[in-house]
Amino acid sequence: MKKVNLSGRDFINLEDFTSEELSALIDYTFELKSKVKNKEEIDIMKNRTMVMYFSKPSLRTRLSFEIGMKKLGGDAFVLKQDEIILGHRESIEDSANVISRYCDLIMIRTFAHSDVEDFAKYSKVPVINALTDLSHPCQVMADLFTIKEHFGKLKGLTLSYIGDGNNVCNSLLTGCTSLGLNIKVGVPKGYEPDAKTIEIAKNTAKDKGCIVEITNDVKEAVSGSDIVYTDVWASMGQESEKKERLNIFKGFTLTKELFSLTNKGAIALHCLPAHKGEEISEEVFNMNAEYIYTEAENRMHAQMAIMSSIIKE
Ligand code: CP
Ligand code: NVA
Repeated sequence: MKKVNLSGRDFINLEDFTSEELSALIDYTFELKSKVKNKEEIDIMKNRTMVMYFSKPSLRTRLSFEIGMKKLGGDAFVLKQDEIILGHRESIEDSANVISRYCDLIMIRTFAHSDVEDFAKYSKVPVINALTDLSHPCQVMADLFTIKEHFGKLKGLTLSYIGDGNNVCNSLLTGCTSLGLNIKVGVPKGYEPDAKTIEIAKNTAKDKGCIVEITNDVKEAVSGSDIVYTDVWASMGQESEKKERLNIFKGFTLTKELFSLTNKGAIALHCLPAHKGEEISEEVFNMNAEYIYTEAENRMHAQMAIMSSIIKE
């Protein structure tokens, strides 16, 4: 098996990995997916345990990591926010030192990105970012795999992201430019992605010969694209802004009319959960449901590749 040797590395920021490493992880995902589909036994995580910590809800991440770990022959243990709140009963330093003595991998979903980075500083085992307010790297590895599986390539394709310039959008900027996809982001004024992430993506794009465009014109963002991606307008933790955001994001719904501006053969993707009728119309969702559900399935295959590549030998 073409396991990628990233032994001992945290998986927190896509920026920490070279294009070659990300590309090798995607190739390895093909291999693992085919083994899972053929019901082959995989035991590379035998006797290994992962602790998963959530301070936000999850369906896909929780199941795809837990079942993925089991399919690799290992075990997963879930801690929820009602059992431990990072940094509350004791310091992140103490929690990281203790938890990492019980297990081989730690996965964290939380609010502040700096909490995951702090945790990793003190952890004795690799730490995986399973979504912070800043980024969602595991989602984007599954997205890029899904795109390669569908189009047979990544380089030269154009992905448009419309809606809120959030965590998923930030990771798409980093992942797409690293692998040579053009990325066009269409967001309302004031809802642009993270400025530092845009700067890094623009520099990477120069190197890789692709483009990064950030615009407030949703039609411009979508035209000529091969993949249109959208996500909820109010992310977890922003629920109180929902009403205000519904107004601000009017016109940014991925409708059939907007989707018709894309290239022939274009697909729509969504990380899910989706709020149909808000960021995506029911019609466009249904036309693309097969791609979107496959994208969700691919979370498991992509994360199996990540987990087995970063675990310490
Ligand atoms: N896409 C995603 O991360 O889904 P969950 O929030 O259900 O884990
Ligand atoms: N942007 C969304 C992604 C959910 C997977 C959120 O943070 O809630």
